[in-house]
Amino acid sequence: MITWGISANSHDAALAVFKDNELLFASHSERFSGIKNDPDLDNQLITYAKRNWGEPQQVVWYEKPWAKTLRQFRAGQGLNHRSNNIKNYLARYNVDAPIITKWHHESHAAAGFYTSSFDEAAVVVIDAIGEFETLTIWQANAAGLKQVYSQRYPHSLGLWYSAMTQRCFLKPNEEEYILMGMAAYGDPNRLYYRIMDDFFDYRSGRLITLKKNLHRGCQDWAPDLVVNDIFDIAAATQAVYEWHFESVLRHALKITGSKNLVLMGGCALNCSANPLAFKHFDRVWIMPNPGDAGSSIGAVLAETKTHIGWQGCDLGYEIPPATSVDQIVDHLLDKKICGLAQGRAEFGPRALGNRSLLADPRGHEIKDRVNDIKQRQKFRPFAPVILEELADDYFDLAGTSSDHRYMQFISRSRHPDLFPAVIHRDGTSRVQTVPKNDSIIRQLLESWYSATGCPMLLNTSLNIKGRPMVNSKYDALAFEARYGVQVYT
Ligand SMILES: [Fe+2]
Repeated sequence: MITWGISANSHDAALAVFKDNELLFASHSERFSGIKNDPDLDNQLITYAKRNWGEPQQVVWYEKPWAKTLRQFRAGQGLNHRSNNIKNYLARYNVDAPIITKWHHESHAAAGFYTSSFDEAAVVVIDAIGEFETLTIWQANAAGLKQVYSQRYPHSLGLWYSAMTQRCFLKPNEEEYILMGMAAYGDPNRLYYRIMDDFFDYRSGRLITLKKNLHRGCQDWAPDLVVNDIFDIAAATQAVYEWHFESVLRHALKITGSKNLVLMGGCALNCSANPLAFKHFDRVWIMPNPGDAGSSIGAVLAETKTHIGWQGCDLGYEIPPATSVDQIVDHLLDKKICGLAQGRAEFGPRALGNRSLLADPRGHEIKDRVNDIKQRQKFRPFAPVILEELADDYFDLAGTSSDHRYMQFISRSRHPDLFPAVIHRDGTSRVQTVPKNDSIIRQLLESWYSATGCPMLLNTSLNIKGRPMVNSKYDALAFEARYGVQVYT
């Protein structure tokens, strides 16, 4: 049976295609529509899925529309918000199949547990908001997922982090990762206790209790602070987040007794905080797309309650490889920077070698050159992609080197002076390790290593500023034309 899992009609829509229990395809809508974080499905995406795998015989939707409507009404958004009539919504895209709906946090939890290798685990889901739930803990084992803790709107760690993102003049629900990167440039101590005292109530006995509803942000908070203070706000926000994150993890350990952690929800993208999980748990799994888009997979898994053998996140649109690795290495040796768009697009927020802009990480000028191409803020770091078996020699990794295949944890560099382009202000890097396999990025790293003695490359996503990552060959050509950087397809 062909089953479609869908997360849409909110932000960053996505579609997953299953044949029985086999995951065949998953993609963000934005990659087809060209609209970054596109909240809606896209006709080209639907056509691609139908042409390759046929019509869906059932659809599993990632949340409960009626419950969401109720919460939006209670939050005062009712009349202004988009309709949650899913049958009508899908009809706009000529999708007509029986619809099953799952709870928002159940979809997150299932996406994590059933893609993990764990027989049993504590599953922690932290996001801004589902229907009502904002933080849940689950006991997962062969019997399924049992919820053992639930925190409800408006008390939300994710909503608060988004509000602080907006307070720092960034876009909430989208640019939290920039706030996280800014944190390394500020002094957390200056505002730590003020943020703790102004926002959180610690007398309730619950994990997260906010003093006020932050659904509409907190732009009026601390008006005495000026623009120059935003790096200190970012640093304190991250430090306060980490304090709460650890108290959630301690509680999850206490009530589940499991030493395996599955971490999900949009907050699982906080790669600066995530290494703390290894302080409390022996093994940690974060599904590579832990936010709502990943719930297109999770919704189906919440229904099937079956582990899938996770094969990696190369699940999207396919560009058949046409260039030899030697050509790319020669180019990197000569010009230092090139694009690579081959194979199936990654499903998730990170480019992991199939839709990447790659560069020589050595030397001081390369970071500015790549930042100029990407037109990003100068303070933002780039990530290294490295041969997995050599990663320990270069980085102090939390967990094992195989835990770092999806850029989900920062690690302290052992040689910050040698690779300044991939080292953040605080001496850390968001490492991606690549195991021995037949992927293009692995072959490329091996050839690069034998040519230079350097086992890593700088890796950032291949996208035009403000646009989603390159999806098709046509997008790759557009990138080349815009920036004059060769993209190998
Ligand atoms: Fe969510």
